[in-house]
Parts: sequence; structure tokens; C-alpha cells
Amino acid sequence: MTQTASDLSPSAQGAIAEALNQCVAETAVSTMLAQNFHWNVTGMAFGPLHALFQEIYEDHFVAQDDLAERIKALDAHAEGMLAGMLKRSKVTEHDGKTDDKTMIKAMQVAQETLAATLAAAGELAAEHGDTLTEDLCIARGQTHEKFAWMLRSHLT
Ligand SMILES: [Fe+2]
Repeated sequence: MTQTASDLSPSAQGAIAEALNQCVAETAVSTMLAQNFHWNVTGMAFGPLHALFQEIYEDHFVAQDDLAERIKALDAHAEGMLAGMLKRSKVTEHDGKTDDKTMIKAMQVAQETLAATLAAAGELAAEHGDTLTEDLCIARGQTHEKFAWMLRSHLT
């Protein structure tokens, strides 16, 4: 049965919030990764890659806020420390000192990781009948898969 945030049990709220904190952490780390590559990318495709990485970090900056505020709607704590986010995140940082193709591949992997994390969070929300969190996760997962496709298309 579909449940709203306030109808969920405290344990369900906590479990879903934990999954969403993972999503926020990976979205935040990917935001920084995209901005890093936006600054440091070089090569003949500088213009479009500079713009694509900007599109990604602007999208992610809005998304991390949407995900964190869903955690607050579930009456849980939203992780707001970079150190805590890095600890949770399966997306890793990069020093940005590399060529354009390596950056594209690293960002593609980040997007695929995010899509999987969002899909898992959505599935967990669905198990608890939390349709509204599930919907948010599905929408975010689709966006990450779109970015993964756009990045992958540069390399094939
Ligand atoms: Fe810029």
C-alpha cells in the first residue's frame, strides 16, 4: 500500500533515509568531479566537454538538494559533511590531472554507479510503499543513465 512520509514507521523512514544519504553523497562527489573536469579538461573537444561537464554539475547540484530535502521530509538527518559523504560514496574523487578521454570514462563510471545506487534506493522505497521517494529515485536514475549514454557516445 502506498504510504506518505509521515505514515511510514520510524524504522522504514530510517532505512530509506540511509539509502538516500548514499544517493546524496554520490551526487555531491560527482558534482565536484564534474566541476573539476569542467575546469581542467583540455584538447580539441575542450568547448563541448567544458559545457557538458557544466551541464552535469548544475544538474547534480539541484539534485543533491532535492534528495537531501526528501530525507528531511522523512524526518531523518541529511549528511552534510564532505568527509562523511566521501566515506559513504562509491563514486571516488579524481585529481583531474589526466586527458579528456580518461575524464569522460571516469564520469561515465560515476553516472553508472549513481544510476545503480538510485535504482536500489528506489527499490527499497517501493518495498516500504514509499511511492514518492521511489518516483524521485527513478527520475534521478534515468537522468544518470542519460548522462552515461552521452559520455559513452564520445568513446565509441
Ligand atoms: Fe565555469
